[in-house]
Amino acid sequence: MLLNMTDLLKVANEHSFAVPAFNIGTGMILNGVIETCEKLKAPVILAIHPWELEFNGDAFLQMVLERAHRTKLPVCIHLDHSEWGPITRAIRAGFTSVMIDASSKSFEDNIALTKQVVEYAHAHGVVVEAELGTLAGIEDEVVVESGKEAYTRPEEVEEFVTKTGCDSLAIAIGTSHGAYKFTAAQCTRNADGILVPPPLRFDVLEECMKRLPNFPIVLHGSSSVPQEFVKMVNQYGGNMPDAVGIPEEQLRKAAELAVCKINIDSDIRLAMTGNIRKYFAEHPDHFDPRQYLKPARQAVKDMVAHKIQNVLGSNGKA
Ligand code: G3H
Ligand code: ZN
Repeated sequence: MLLNMTDLLKVANEHSFAVPAFNIGTGMILNGVIETCEKLKAPVILAIHPWELEFNGDAFLQMVLERAHRTKLPVCIHLDHSEWGPITRAIRAGFTSVMIDASSKSFEDNIALTKQVVEYAHAHGVVVEAELGTLAGIEDEVVVESGKEAYTRPEEVEEFVTKTGCDSLAIAIGTSHGAYKFTAAQCTRNADGILVPPPLRFDVLEECMKRLPNFPIVLHGSSSVPQEFVKMVNQYGGNMPDAVGIPEEQLRKAAELAVCKINIDSDIRLAMTGNIRKYFAEHPDHFDPRQYLKPARQAVKDMVAHKIQNVLGSNGKA
């Protein structure tokens, strides 16, 4: 059941949980996400980044659309981090939600561009997520160095939402894209030598909530980079020094507040890669993708189930 994002986020807002937006990078991830969400009766946002569209080709989008129409779950197909050209193409292709990411531009330019997208999208029955503040990491084609990010300024959110007419707002409170979210200098280390990141800025979130009552807030860059998978990657030939993410209890707290959509991509990729590396190390003579992708497929499902049940609280909410 293909819905638009406003309908999904409204329920999440009212019932203090968050809907996961999982990036759909391959067909295997698509199936793992949908099958797990169906089993757990959890609404889901299928987020597709323009790079994922480019990698998979047009037939992939048809497959995602067909799968989204076929499931009884409330789902939304969302174009992640994008700009005017890809957004208009995505709307014509059947996406029900798009994100305009003009967060690297000035406040005025971000408003102008977002407003233009909102007018076009709303005229086609599609909803728009916008972003204010910048996350560190890779967003679209803009690389923001760790330490150069800028938290959302709560005093700007009302003006931004009113002037643009956007339907949800991604804010920057200390999350960041990718598996290397923080520099060592930004963190402390625990007894095992693992980086401990600075806490999320709940004061910024709460101030935004006061200024935008009941408005859906979004968190990007919300992978937790579980250390068991970093360890697995490193143990079986990989090298991911100081990979670290956002502690899950902080995301759980955000989901209970006004955060209605939480974006997760890296954790799924990390769990797949750890399992594939392990398989190759343990079966050096195997070369059949149906063999080595089996544990990766299970890893997608396990990660999705864990996030839904233990972090976002969206199980049983479909
Ligand atoms: O838009 C995608 C997400 O913000 C991904 O964040 O790298 O922490 O999984 P992540
Ligand atoms: Zn993102």
